[in-house]
Amino acid sequence: MTEKIKVAVSGACGKMGQAVIKAVLAEDDMVLVSAIDVANTGNDIGEIVENRPCGVLIEESLEKALTEKHIDAVVDFTNPELVFRHTKLILEKGSRPVVGTTGLRANELEELKNLSQQKGLGCLIAPNFAVGAVLMMMFAQKAAKYFGNAEIIELHHNGKKDAPSGTAIKTAELMTMQRDKFGEDNCPEIETLKGSRGGVTESNIHIHSVRIPGFIAHQEVICGSLGQALTIRHDSFDRISFMPGVILSIRYVMTHNDFIYGLDNIL
Ligand SMILES: NC(=O)c1ccc[n+]([C@@H]2O[C@H](COP(=O)([O-])OP(=O)(O)OC[C@H]3O[C@@H](n4cnc5c(N)ncnc54)[C@H](O)[C@@H]3O)[C@@H](O)[C@H]2O)c1
Repeated sequence: MTEKIKVAVSGACGKMGQAVIKAVLAEDDMVLVSAIDVANTGNDIGEIVENRPCGVLIEESLEKALTEKHIDAVVDFTNPELVFRHTKLILEKGSRPVVGTTGLRANELEELKNLSQQKGLGCLIAPNFAVGAVLMMMFAQKAAKYFGNAEIIELHHNGKKDAPSGTAIKTAELMTMQRDKFGEDNCPEIETLKGSRGGVTESNIHIHSVRIPGFIAHQEVICGSLGQALTIRHDSFDRISFMPGVILSIRYVMTHNDFIYGLDNIL
């Protein structure tokens, strides 16, 4: 019998962390060996997530868990202030990161890529694990070849710390691979209310971030050209939508020693 993948979840008590715990517990080829969070330490994570114990107590320190236990892969859904330090630590300790936390900057991604290559350890970072969202990004990239105007509206719950979303940034990056500049025929603009036109990428894609309680993760890409507009929209109504992508990524990092940014690269 092949050995089960020993998985740790960092940010285990969070909205995404709890969904990941449930998903990992349901997989036959995985075993949950650690649940890390600064909340509810000492409690059984199974009690919190499924109202029944699973034998894994919540521990506070990722570093301690990585030092004391054999952990094959760590799934991180914490927050933008921690994600770079956590991912670096996971690689330094010889484990494989699967990172959903958003907010990593380009220079940090570069450093993590170098570290993962240097260590020869698989590392997968995805701003969006929902397959539908990945397809939305791919379709937007395709559309960018034919549409010279593009704006992105991303909508999330009001507990989201970073703006714009990692998905919006990644979408704009993919679209910019098809065209250097968007909206070249726009007239010169005057913002009478600062920020009205949203954040602007170097390629002149405007990104607008909406934060409303109750929303999960939603995005609309509006592409325009002469006499027509194409709107590509994706909605995550439930955090379960991200789980097949997370599970696929855990298996991926165990069998590949490369650095991946974006789920599109492994679909
Ligand atoms: N990639 C994706 O598909 C995707 C989908 C949804 C959300 N996200 C991102 O995932 C991240 C988490 O989102 P969320 O809604 O679950 O947030 P959340 O606030 O519900 O959960 C974060 C958890 O991290 C814990 N935490 C704080 N400090 C910690 C530490 N030092 N060590 C371990 N845990 C710690 C918190 O106590 C909390 O339980 C955000 O960056 C969000 O944007 C990504």
